[in-house]
Amino acid sequence: MTKSLFPEIKYVGVDDLDLDLFESQYDVPEGMSYNSYVILDDKVAVMDTVDARKAAEWLENLEEALAGRKPDYLVVQHMEPDHSGAILTLTQRYPDIRIVATAKALTFLGQFFDGHAFNTMAVKEGDTLELGAHTLQFILAAMVHWPEVMVTFDRKDKVLFAADAFGKFGALSKCGYFGEEDDDWACEARRYYFNICGKYGAPVQVLLKKVLPLAPAVIAPLHGPILRENLGEYLSLYQTWSSYGVETEGVFVACASIHGGTMVAAEKMKEILLAKGCPKVALADLTRDDQAEAVEDAFRYGKMVLLAASYDGGLFSPAYNFIHTLQMKAWQKRKVALVENGTWAPSAGKVMKELFGAMKDVEIVGDLVTLRSRMKDSDLPALEALADAILQ
Ligand code: FEO
Repeated sequence: MTKSLFPEIKYVGVDDLDLDLFESQYDVPEGMSYNSYVILDDKVAVMDTVDARKAAEWLENLEEALAGRKPDYLVVQHMEPDHSGAILTLTQRYPDIRIVATAKALTFLGQFFDGHAFNTMAVKEGDTLELGAHTLQFILAAMVHWPEVMVTFDRKDKVLFAADAFGKFGALSKCGYFGEEDDDWACEARRYYFNICGKYGAPVQVLLKKVLPLAPAVIAPLHGPILRENLGEYLSLYQTWSSYGVETEGVFVACASIHGGTMVAAEKMKEILLAKGCPKVALADLTRDDQAEAVEDAFRYGKMVLLAASYDGGLFSPAYNFIHTLQMKAWQKRKVALVENGTWAPSAGKVMKELFGAMKDVEIVGDLVTLRSRMKDSDLPALEALADAILQ
């Protein structure tokens, strides 16, 4: 399947509907797209390849778009294998093609394809490549999401080829090839952003400062729909997300319950928060719900109540793993309130306090509430007080 962005710029990417886990860790119930583009000018440039799983289908798309022409350049913006997996397929088909990438990306190229020789050209910040009517300008985007990343701006049609930035989970045959066909871009774009790039807010801010003055008319990411309308909305969300701002007023209630007792208290906490006027409360079961979605909600809201069972003299592992993931993703500028449960020696609260206490700009509010096996009426005043503390 090929699609035209402009007469000379074609989408030649592929969907992956059989993938069980993206990056061997993220559920992708709607599949994944590996985007790739070709610019057909006096010179022909291919913008990134795709995952090796889909190399043959991608080459078919590319050759349909090439219509007998030979590509002069392969622009490699990111060397992660979901985009570099078909480089050998392409270079073996077109041995004269020249790979254009950052010096760091060329180092990675050698690491991934040891023993193969390539015709390469290293580019740095601000370098340009003339294709004819199109001039490509290269903009370094280190750590969005690997250190070798660059994005590319086509000065003629004002297309920003954005690498992983502005991507989302989901195959394009499911969510639409263009942003305006996508009913809820933010939902899976947010889950993608915080789980893939959440740690790299500062580099994303640097990138936004560089690309905003260029006033792109189209954002062409390496995953997810091509964005042509409502760019202000997408850019505004990226400003909020990358600065760790609060997107939605409300509270995220996360719960790790072993036999259901702690979950009863979590549901009660949701009810109390809503009764106190909290505009929105999202509740997640950390033992069964998608952890990537829980991470997304922890960033989406500014406040979180975490309720967890004690286990083996410590913290029940779904809660431990969740907090560890938040720490890895640089979760910050947030308030958290804590509830522990334990039948004979409650230990979850101590571990949660230690873990959150070691995180930058995370405030633990209210007094730790300790439940004994099951929530009782006598626990309600403490839960009410904790709700007041998180809502303040
Ligand atoms: Fe889509 Fe960082 O690779």
